[in-house]
Amino acid sequence: MGEHVNLKPGEARCDAPSYQDILDRDTREAPAALRAESAPFLGDEPIPVEHYTSQEFFNKEVEKLWPRVWQMACREEEIPEVGDYMTYDIVGKSFLIVRTKPDEIKAFYNSCLHRGTKLKHDQGCANQFRCPFHGFTWNLDGSFKENPTAWDFPHLSPEKLQLPEALVDTWGGFVFINMDKNARPLYEVLDILPEHFSRWKTEDCYKFVHVAKVIKANWKVVSEAFMESWHTIDTHPQIMPYLACANSQYDVFSDHITRQISANGEPSPHVYDKNYSEQEILNSMTGTSGRIVDASNLKVPDGQKARAFMAEASRQAFAEQDGHDYSDKSDAEMLDAMLYNVFPNFSVWAGYLPNLVYRWRPNGMDVNSAIMEVMWLKRCPKGQPRPEPVPVHWLSEDERWTDAPELGGLAGIFEQDMGNLPYVQEGLHASGTGEVNFGNYQEMRIRQHHITLKKYLNDEI
Ligand SMILES: [Fe+2]
Repeated sequence: MGEHVNLKPGEARCDAPSYQDILDRDTREAPAALRAESAPFLGDEPIPVEHYTSQEFFNKEVEKLWPRVWQMACREEEIPEVGDYMTYDIVGKSFLIVRTKPDEIKAFYNSCLHRGTKLKHDQGCANQFRCPFHGFTWNLDGSFKENPTAWDFPHLSPEKLQLPEALVDTWGGFVFINMDKNARPLYEVLDILPEHFSRWKTEDCYKFVHVAKVIKANWKVVSEAFMESWHTIDTHPQIMPYLACANSQYDVFSDHITRQISANGEPSPHVYDKNYSEQEILNSMTGTSGRIVDASNLKVPDGQKARAFMAEASRQAFAEQDGHDYSDKSDAEMLDAMLYNVFPNFSVWAGYLPNLVYRWRPNGMDVNSAIMEVMWLKRCPKGQPRPEPVPVHWLSEDERWTDAPELGGLAGIFEQDMGNLPYVQEGLHASGTGEVNFGNYQEMRIRQHHITLKKYLNDEI
């Protein structure tokens, strides 16, 4: 485009109002977190397809990346009582996440110190951990309790039989673990995240949906499908009447923390020529949003904008549902798609919508498949007991995301997202150049993903 010739790489933007311009027109001032912008130019070199296809590269990730990063293992609400436990598996390792005291959570390597059996492979509540093979038994705190034939193991002291642990910390109601005893503290790695979420408080939410499925694509192919919004034009054309996709904002705050924001209730610049009415914009939103239970009777009054109208309708509907007061919350916080990522494999939506959470993991040691998990958090109703979190619903290989009705209108969107990915993986193997290319701005978060990954693989972080 002619007007872009004098711009440096990374400075060009979609020729439409920016996300910040949209915030300027809103009915309430957005919080400082949403006014922050950080868009460094990160380079425009191609990335080798081996990052996604090579078993050797994958093995390096197993050796250098996964043992050294903070990973979201579960929600705190899933282990509320002493003795409650969850398991978390990652590239052949397994952890037993246990509430050991009312205010203490530990993560033990989930492997018997006798002959290696996994101590647990499910979730539940226990007062001890007894190996199902020979009965070596541990106390909740990981100290050794007993062995049915202790006379035969004089060489194993209680110290030797202490269950080894990973580091544990929490933020936002999530439990994180790190295998590296010398890891930087979680709060340092989270950078601006706790400050930004101080308004949205995911710790005050409960998990009402959790769906998981194995996807036949590398874990980075899957995760990077959720690091830009501009695939909407070909992947989700039905949401373009209400999603400002091409003029989304992208931010890289640090090696570990990135963000994208797309305004809702504003048409995509790709469909400006269709001149959708405000009512048409609203109608396109209500089917897929998960925001308002019954939006069928909503009518945008003459002279009002769908965005402002939907924000106000959401304030009222949410207050009715959960008893909280949303009257001073900004339009953006009531509507927009705001995804924050914590490198390498955790993403949480911000704002007062039911917050989506994504977790991506390699599927065991397979470079060509990954586990995609979609969790959905809702604010706990005011003055009522905390609702129980749901257990995970695993979809089989043959099932589609639309076979998870609890995802509502989002199921079809996830099916569109995920349906492409096996073909991405196959196409990467089929590449004629051995390289992929990223946009300078819209795919900045994906480039940062590879930059940070490289730092881990090269021991630079
Ligand atoms: Fe998508």
